[in-house]
Amino acid sequence: MNAQDRQARLDAAVAAAREAGGVALAHFRDLGALTVESKGVQDLVSEADRETERVIKGRLTADFPDDAFVGEETGADRVDGERGTWVVDPIDGTQPFLLGLPTWCVSIAYVADDDMQVGVVYNPVTDDLYTAQRGGGATLNGKPMHVREVSSLSEGLTGMGCSSSTTPQQLGHIAEGLRAADGMYHRCGSGALTLAYVAAGQLIGYIEMHINAWDCLAALLLIEEAGGRANPFLAEHGVTGGGRIIAGAPGVYDKLTSLLPA
Ligand code: IPD
Ligand code: CA
Ligand code: CA
Repeated sequence: MNAQDRQARLDAAVAAAREAGGVALAHFRDLGALTVESKGVQDLVSEADRETERVIKGRLTADFPDDAFVGEETGADRVDGERGTWVVDPIDGTQPFLLGLPTWCVSIAYVADDDMQVGVVYNPVTDDLYTAQRGGGATLNGKPMHVREVSSLSEGLTGMGCSSSTTPQQLGHIAEGLRAADGMYHRCGSGALTLAYVAAGQLIGYIEMHINAWDCLAALLLIEEAGGRANPFLAEHGVTGGGRIIAGAPGVYDKLTSLLPA
């Protein structure tokens, strides 16, 4: 895709994230009015997730009617591998959101030519906006951001993600290896936001045995454009799949990989 089309997608993704983030934030300020449903073990959803996705999808499909769309709440729409695809998690970190904790975000990726082209992660509570476009670097609130220069897991915090797809044994193995390397874990309940923290140099890495494409594709581009390294998640799992993720500063990437259970 050309630079002009990429910039147009980035501008639209930022506008959609800010608008949808405002809708989600209004629900966040009035959590008692929401009916919460359970989708499974430690997996909640409410009308806030669905309404926020409707706002994003409505705006992006109006601006780019030929683009395909994958959203956590509405599923895949016209994904045929030929055209560009929006991959969206309207609220990543639904659990902290519903508990009144500030660590949740809107995540919007645009994928074309077999790669992430645009990535936007927006935390409406802190008003922090993380953006990247392929070949154009990554920014936090308009300023360039970079992964941290580290060579050991002891030099910072590593984000650990966990859902019901991770077994107790897998989680224990990773935690044991991290502690043995004098590392320390961080978990805030949002994979997308934690990955954005890695891109901004606030954390040094992220590891999770299973994450979905809509949780991570936007933030993976942030990390790549901020000088970090990640496993080829898109090539491995596509825009609708899920699997393990390892991402971080280049100096600790191999060390993060060695934490994975066999
Ligand atoms: C989850 C969060 C969590 C991660 C899970 C995701 P949700 O997304 O990102 O941090 O560990 O893998 O499914 O349910 O809050 O949108
Ligand atoms: Ca998610
Ligand atoms: Ca979600």
